[in-house]
Amino acid sequence: MDASIESIKRQFADIFGEAGKLTVIRAPGRVNLIGEHTDYNDGFVLPMAIEPEVRMVCRERQDGTIRLASTIFPGQIVEFSLSGKIERAEPQWANYSRGVTAQLMAAGIPLTGMDAMIANTLPVGGGLSSSAAIEVATAWCFLALGGLEIDITRLAVICQIAEHEYAGVPCGIMDQTIVISAQAGHAMLLDCRDLSRQFVPLDVNELRVVVANTMVKHELSGGEYAQRRKQCEEGVAYFKTLQPGVRSLRDVTLKHLEEARGKLSDVVYRRCRHVISENARTVEAVTMLGRKSYERVGELMVQSHASLRDDYEVSCEELDCLAAEAIKVKGVYGARMTGGGFGGCIVALVQPRAVDALIDHLSKTYAAQFGKTPSSFVTTPAPGAGMIQDG
Ligand code: GLA
Repeated sequence: MDASIESIKRQFADIFGEAGKLTVIRAPGRVNLIGEHTDYNDGFVLPMAIEPEVRMVCRERQDGTIRLASTIFPGQIVEFSLSGKIERAEPQWANYSRGVTAQLMAAGIPLTGMDAMIANTLPVGGGLSSSAAIEVATAWCFLALGGLEIDITRLAVICQIAEHEYAGVPCGIMDQTIVISAQAGHAMLLDCRDLSRQFVPLDVNELRVVVANTMVKHELSGGEYAQRRKQCEEGVAYFKTLQPGVRSLRDVTLKHLEEARGKLSDVVYRRCRHVISENARTVEAVTMLGRKSYERVGELMVQSHASLRDDYEVSCEELDCLAAEAIKVKGVYGARMTGGGFGGCIVALVQPRAVDALIDHLSKTYAAQFGKTPSSFVTTPAPGAGMIQDG
């Protein structure tokens, strides 16, 4: 799809008419290098923003009405008012924006009406945080039109609550935070307990990040996701009985977990083992990136995938295939599933010269096994959301 600025402004004018100043916002997708299913356990994550992004064109309205369009759903215009209660409703795609609008209002932020159009270069439902990107882009439209500023962490939480309440997904804080505050050329170590951030440079002379999409999504509603959260909470509840100071799995060590083996159900034990070991892998990966020990970072990614597959049980045969095939290619340091799981994408850390061979190998082997071509791309770490063009 042609999502160049001029082209999307033309599309906007076709839908909402000419006249008035147009503001253009961008919000990137994200890929998580390591630290999966740790964010809602007060743990560590290492995401980066990617080049595919959501763009949103907006224009102020004086009547307190919001009208939304999306290039993916041509012909649909969703309308609601800032003066009424904003409910979750059909069509689903507009609920991210509805939710953010409602949450910004609940936070006391003065909003102006607008016409807005969403345009994506980011696959929807591909596990690359298209939902967080739409949430953040919507918020940015309001902030840009109103000339407002808001604290990054506060905005991330507003978007996260919007996703909980309007999309029904009890997500953690990783996606919204990286979409808002990513830095070009860097991954971000986020401590999800205190939301402190450390930017970790990725040397473009030495590293490439390749993302390959399985093109499947086995579980959409977040039911499995919510169940994993519950199982982690069950683990925490047990450890609290031993040590009242335990607030989350972040406070539990592998030694404590081993001592508790037999007291926890096997499933809860394995869920906890994933989270606790994944936190350690994530912190080590940052140290190893700093030392340019890319082989070790790759090993940690491979271990992360195995743990997500065997202990956390959020992988699927398509992800397992891509992750296993990727590491057979010379110059690939490591690969793993990324995001919530049950489909979506893998991420691979590779030498620049290995990119083409990797993409080619994945296409062939995946097509042979599943009869479809994975959509793959190479990306550098992109900057967080912002304004591209001020009306
Ligand atoms: C989804 C959620 C995130 C995070 C990941 C798993 O992407 O939105 O908050 O929990 O799954 O790491």
